[in-house]
Amino acid sequence: MAVSLNTRYLDPFIGAHEYEAIVPQVLAAHETLRRGSGLGSGYLGWLDLPRDYDKAEFSRIAQAAKKIQKDSEVLVVIGIGGSYLGARAAIEFIKSPLYNSLSKDTPNIYFVGNSLSPSYLNEILTLCEGKDLSVNVISKSGTTTEPALCFRIFREVLEKKYGKEGARSRIYCTTDKARGTLKELADKEGYETFVIPDDVGGRFSVLTPVGLLPIAVAGCDIQAIMEGAAGAMAAYSEPDLQKNDACKYAAIRRILLDKGKKIEILVSYEPGFALMNEWYKQLFGESEGKDNKGLYPSSMIFSTDLHSLGQFVQDGSRTMFETVVNVQKSRTDLYLKPEPENFDGLNFLADQDMSLVNQKAMQGTILAHVEGGTPNLVLNIPEMNEFEFGWLVYFFEMAVAVSGYLLGVNPFDQPGVEGYKKNMFALLGKPGYEAQRAELEKRLQ
Ligand code: PA5
Repeated sequence: MAVSLNTRYLDPFIGAHEYEAIVPQVLAAHETLRRGSGLGSGYLGWLDLPRDYDKAEFSRIAQAAKKIQKDSEVLVVIGIGGSYLGARAAIEFIKSPLYNSLSKDTPNIYFVGNSLSPSYLNEILTLCEGKDLSVNVISKSGTTTEPALCFRIFREVLEKKYGKEGARSRIYCTTDKARGTLKELADKEGYETFVIPDDVGGRFSVLTPVGLLPIAVAGCDIQAIMEGAAGAMAAYSEPDLQKNDACKYAAIRRILLDKGKKIEILVSYEPGFALMNEWYKQLFGESEGKDNKGLYPSSMIFSTDLHSLGQFVQDGSRTMFETVVNVQKSRTDLYLKPEPENFDGLNFLADQDMSLVNQKAMQGTILAHVEGGTPNLVLNIPEMNEFEFGWLVYFFEMAVAVSGYLLGVNPFDQPGVEGYKKNMFALLGKPGYEAQRAELEKRLQ
């Protein structure tokens, strides 16, 4: 069993002729990708990664993870964007969103360097007090401000606690093989380094050491993740939409966009999917949202959000569609017993597993939303384990690449991310930004 699409609820919204009309474009986009002849073709390393990953480095990741599990109660993972979302998503998807509270034999894992909030950082520092720590700092460019600033702080913490020598054996740097400040520092100080391949962009890097080291420290089977991704790689290399759900998904998104459905909501009924939602938003937002084009990627967790945004999905402006993640087998279940008094009137829910109640909520919601005019597409996931995580990652990566080519954008760059950085540096007085500073300060007055 593997990740699969169920398109039956789209029938009222998309006609068979519309699928037929888009097939040649989708196949052309897929072919362009496979041939490496499209925009951003220098960043296609993720395509064959599930087969061609560096096996020697993979063993080193497993060894480092074992060492961290043995000598640390806490692993601090420093990174932002594609340098942290995938690992965090994997741990919550495979283990639990409550991993840190539930983990007994593996270290707690705190993600920092993904904001500039001193309050958050101080809270993590408090949690680390008196604990044995290791740090994994992750930055492909090696120059991103948020993680760099955070690494400064944690290096000092480690050096104070263990001395320079002791700290050295607890710092792991995941970065470019040759370039960037982080690489220079790691070489100078003798930290263990892991490489982010040149041809794999940040948001496509979860199956490299970027994601794999923290995921392995959490006790997940990283071999099974790569096997799942390899299964998806085989399935989605097929130039046939009947066999290739990633391409079919790209086709559906494009047809719906052309019908004015400009917002995609990735919906799940599992709180353990919340960070996967964030990972998906980065992947699609940074890959498609450029040149004034793209679907806006958003997400919800149901039934939680049925009590807030559900009203809008049912009844608000008709600009969105839902991709509903259907986890077919719950990680664990809860049998609901009947109560003789039935004071709360809930005995109609008893004598069955709670996962069935969740399923019925999903089915009922899909029918209601479709009736309200919101197209629904279902993405079946057999269960939330390592294999399916790897498969799902590759499914979305393939889908976003094909979607980007269908839109005519470069899915592998992110020019828009630079805008805020320039202004921030100017306002903070970074050397070289003097002229901009004066102009920006005038605008702020
Ligand atoms: O997808 C991307 O490339 C970005 O979101 C990066 O992951 C993010 O900006 C972090 O960059 P870096 O790993 O260079 O610190």
